[in-house]
Amino acid sequence: EKSGFEHFMLKEIFEQPEAIKNSVRGRLIPESGLAVLGGLESVEQRLRQVKRIHIVACGTAFHAGLVGEYMLEEYAGIPVEVCIGSEFRYRKAVLDPKDDAVLVISQSGETADSLAAVREAKEKGVLTLGIVNVVGSTIAQETDAGVYTHAGPEIGVASTKVFVSQLAVLALFIIFLGRQRQMSVVVGKRIAEALLAIPKQVQSILEQDSVTKLIAQKYFKSKDVFFLGRKYNFPIALEGALKLKEISYIHAEGYASGELKHGPLAVIDELVPSVVVCPQDSVYEKNISNIEEIRARHGKIVAIATHGDEEIKQVADDVIYIPKTLEMLTPILSAIPLQLLSYHVALALGHDIDKPRNIAKTATVE
Ligand code: G6P
Repeated sequence: EKSGFEHFMLKEIFEQPEAIKNSVRGRLIPESGLAVLGGLESVEQRLRQVKRIHIVACGTAFHAGLVGEYMLEEYAGIPVEVCIGSEFRYRKAVLDPKDDAVLVISQSGETADSLAAVREAKEKGVLTLGIVNVVGSTIAQETDAGVYTHAGPEIGVASTKVFVSQLAVLALFIIFLGRQRQMSVVVGKRIAEALLAIPKQVQSILEQDSVTKLIAQKYFKSKDVFFLGRKYNFPIALEGALKLKEISYIHAEGYASGELKHGPLAVIDELVPSVVVCPQDSVYEKNISNIEEIRARHGKIVAIATHGDEEIKQVADDVIYIPKTLEMLTPILSAIPLQLLSYHVALALGHDIDKPRNIAKTATVE
């Protein structure tokens, strides 16, 4: 049921505050800065010994994994490698059964390449964990332990609400692992409180949908679009480009802002807009310099910025504001306008949004 929405994708975008609430519900003790993850209880002691985590996933879930890498390294002090499922299975990854764990992230729990990673890791005696949406799916069953996202069924081929739920669950996972290690109660509390405030903040972004729609109408005829971001929002640039490609069929590329000068700048001109994810975080100034580089080549800029940032208006052609949160949680907020942007562009182009050409919701074959 589309419950009055024109497409499942739009419905699922608007369900995100609820999806995140469902992912977090009952899993936090904010006053103690702790996360309670029943699905990890059986491996709690083994998790204390883990010295390295390999995150394996495909598509949108891979982008969630990249955000997880930044979170885990910063807050839990655990070295992380993130690998695409189809690469992991053929790469000769060095896995240590004593120190390593493989964490597979998957909406469906059935993606062939991600499942192959679980089997490969198990064969090598490595602890396997899952962050999965579909209860009882193959990956959920075959991993040693895991956490369900509980985002509810996702029908639209382009993943939206499950992506933000994966990020919310990763934040819980980081509190869980971090508090087993060097994370203080104060930091645990800070993340927990910020996470609990996220659903309302997502709601406030959804309420500005009309702004995103106008911007989409301005740019929907573009043939190429860049998405740029740094640190926690580099994966969001990749995800923004993927969303646009998937449903609008426009050529879009996601890049780390700092890589611009190593090639992509050559493509920029007045016909190639860039969507720059630049909240006021630890890399804000760096992003602003990248925006200047684009402007010098007459490229148009759509900025995703923090509420109250007036300065950005001087360098960007269009601005979509998101509320302030902890830097590690900004991806949950910055992903939303990019989903809406893609949706409205695809709508303006008249595409079949819930069933884009050539791609399937679940890739159960290689
Ligand atoms: C397909 C879907 C993507 C999804 C990817 C991974 O390609 O079209 O939206 O991100 O599979 O799927 P999974 O179910 O493992 O998250």
